[in-house]
Amino acid sequence: MKTQTLYQEAIKFATAKHVDQDQKVPGTNLPYVVHLSNVAMEIMIASCNTDNFNLGLALQAALLHDTLEDTSTDFAELESKFGIEVATAVSALTKNNELPKEQSMVDSLARIKEMPTEVWAVKLADRITNLQPPPAHWDNERKIAYREEARLILSELKEGNEYLAKRLEKKIDEYQIYITN
Ligand code: NI
Repeated sequence: MKTQTLYQEAIKFATAKHVDQDQKVPGTNLPYVVHLSNVAMEIMIASCNTDNFNLGLALQAALLHDTLEDTSTDFAELESKFGIEVATAVSALTKNNELPKEQSMVDSLARIKEMPTEVWAVKLADRITNLQPPPAHWDNERKIAYREEARLILSELKEGNEYLAKRLEKKIDEYQIYITN
C-alpha cells in the first residue's frame, strides 16, 4: 500500500476514536488529532534525515500511538485493520495502567526497545511534540518531573534515531525557561 494511503487510513481511524472520547490536546481546546499529526510531522521530517527508514510503519504507529491508552480500541481491532507489526508497536507505546506510575514509563521504554527503531522514533517524536509551554496549573515540581522523564526517554532511546535524539535534546534544554531553580 502507498505511504499516503497508510497515512490516511491511520489518521481517519485514530481521529474518530479520539473524537469518541471528546479528547483534546491537554490544556487547549484543540482536537487530539492535532497532537497526532504533529507527531507524524516529526516522523516525516526525521525520515528525510534517516537511512533505511520504514516510513509506513512509523507513520501508522505515530498516528495510532494513543488509541490503546486513551480510547476504546483494543489490540485485536488494531491487528485486524493495520496488521500485527503496527498493533504490537502501538502496544509497546502504551503504558501498563496496572503498574505504579513511576514504573510504567520504564516498562514501556523496555518494550519499545524490543521493537524496530521506527517505534523508538515515534516515542522520541511524541516527547518532542509534548515539550511545549507547560499548562498554567503545573507547579515547578511537576515541570521538573516532566523534564526528568524526557531525559529518561532520551537516554534510553537515543540510539534509535540520531536526528530525533538531537531534536529532543534541544527541546529539553529549551524547557529550562519554564523552570525556576
Ligand atoms: Ni502522545
